[in-house]
Amino acid sequence: MSAFLFLVSAVLFILSLRGLSSAASSKRGNLFGIIGMAIAVVATVMSPPVSFYTVIVLGIIVGGFIGYVIAKKISMTNLPQLIAGFHSLVGLSAVLIAFSVLRNPRAFGLPETQSLGGLLEMSVGACIGAITFTGSAVAFIKLSGLFRKLIVQLPKQHIINAIIAFCVIGFVIAFVCFGSMALLTIVVSLSFLLGWFLIIPIGGADMPVIVSMLNSYSGWAAAGIGFTLENTLLIIVGAIVGTSGAILSNIMCRGMNRSLVNVVLGGFGTDVSAASSGSSDSSGRNVKVSSPEDAAFILKNADSIIVVPGYGMAVSHAQHAIKEISDICKNGGATVRFAIHPVAGRMPGHMNVLLAEANIEYEDVLEIGEINHDFANTDVVLVVGANDITNPAAKNDPTSPIYGMPVLDVDKARTVLFIKRSLGSGYAGIDNSLFYQNNTMMILGDAKRVCEEILQSAK
Ligand code: TAP
Repeated sequence: MSAFLFLVSAVLFILSLRGLSSAASSKRGNLFGIIGMAIAVVATVMSPPVSFYTVIVLGIIVGGFIGYVIAKKISMTNLPQLIAGFHSLVGLSAVLIAFSVLRNPRAFGLPETQSLGGLLEMSVGACIGAITFTGSAVAFIKLSGLFRKLIVQLPKQHIINAIIAFCVIGFVIAFVCFGSMALLTIVVSLSFLLGWFLIIPIGGADMPVIVSMLNSYSGWAAAGIGFTLENTLLIIVGAIVGTSGAILSNIMCRGMNRSLVNVVLGGFGTDVSAASSGSSDSSGRNVKVSSPEDAAFILKNADSIIVVPGYGMAVSHAQHAIKEISDICKNGGATVRFAIHPVAGRMPGHMNVLLAEANIEYEDVLEIGEINHDFANTDVVLVVGANDITNPAAKNDPTSPIYGMPVLDVDKARTVLFIKRSLGSGYAGIDNSLFYQNNTMMILGDAKRVCEEILQSAK
């Protein structure tokens, strides 16, 4: 019976992933995921080796309550660190299960002595789990800006990491040969250290890619432990999470024109706290600074408008005011569309979720490939708290760290209205020549406040 239930929930997880691939079907995708997980939990609890129900029920009640409170309280901009925090728990579970199985295999319905293959699966699962645990903890600390003193980078960090990695492999082989608790403890301790050191040198700008990579690790850790427990569902779900995390990391890297190796070895990007503050490098060039009233006038007289949302829209929560501005312009006869860059904001789909939250129609929201050729025929582009994703240096300046990254062709529009607080840089920490272009007007200020002022004037 439990094999059948596991199969049903595996199918539901695959359908869930499929649903989550588009904003229109994402609610259904979430629902499939919830039902699949509920079936998986029931099937596991009903399986023969499980007996201690009080603790399980208590765990579900306490865990469910904590999950509910976090989900209610968490803001969109804090989601990446929340995800990193959750991945660390998946990694820790894999480690704890490996120790428990080694200590008392009978409790899991497994034979007293493990085969060589079983010990290999157990140690690899525990090792990936331990790397995921501390790596995700560092990602969480970096993204949330907490406990900064813990983030200490050693000289020659990459070489130290390579030495630790070789030691881990050596101790895994020893563990497979002897199967002792002490050797597993050494494997896990070294892996904890490796996870911590691997993520420390990575710049804040690359953290979202790392979070997605750790997501993939957590999947492989679960799959490894699934082999140990002979649990098909854990193997299937672990493999789904592992592969989808790897594919997502790859998509994000392609969106930034970077390789995963380049990200892991440390590329551009400053620490999170420094990100987005930037420096006002106007270096004598002319900047046209305008007012929200002027922006409202220009928008109301435009026939075609493209809105380019970015990280600043997310932090200021400007999406609702933007929706109202777009409604006014549409009622006046203009076409209003939204251009989404694959790495706009700080996580995949960040802008899509915010625009959906503000009830902006899906058909008005277009991906870079669908809309980039239209900028040249557009009257007004309204850039709201975006920066790097519009920077022409990615196309024209081979010395720029973002050279080769696909960017929105905002510079080709007739008029560009740029809302941000200063002339400072974005996440990549580089100047944007678009601010100084003849057809650009900067409207400086918090995106939400500026958009609300534009809205008032437009009304
Ligand atoms: P950014 O290039 O980071 O620019 C955001 C701009 O928003 C900043 O220049 C900042 O300028 C402005 N801003 C911040 N708070 C604001 C507020 N309250 N009101 C108005 N403006 C505000 O963002 P982007 O254009 O969305 O590009 C995303 C960047 O993140 C890319 O470099 C991308 O590679 C990187 N990244 C993204 C992801 C994913 S998956 N999305 C993953 C890894 C890396 P001021 O300080 O002057 O206001």
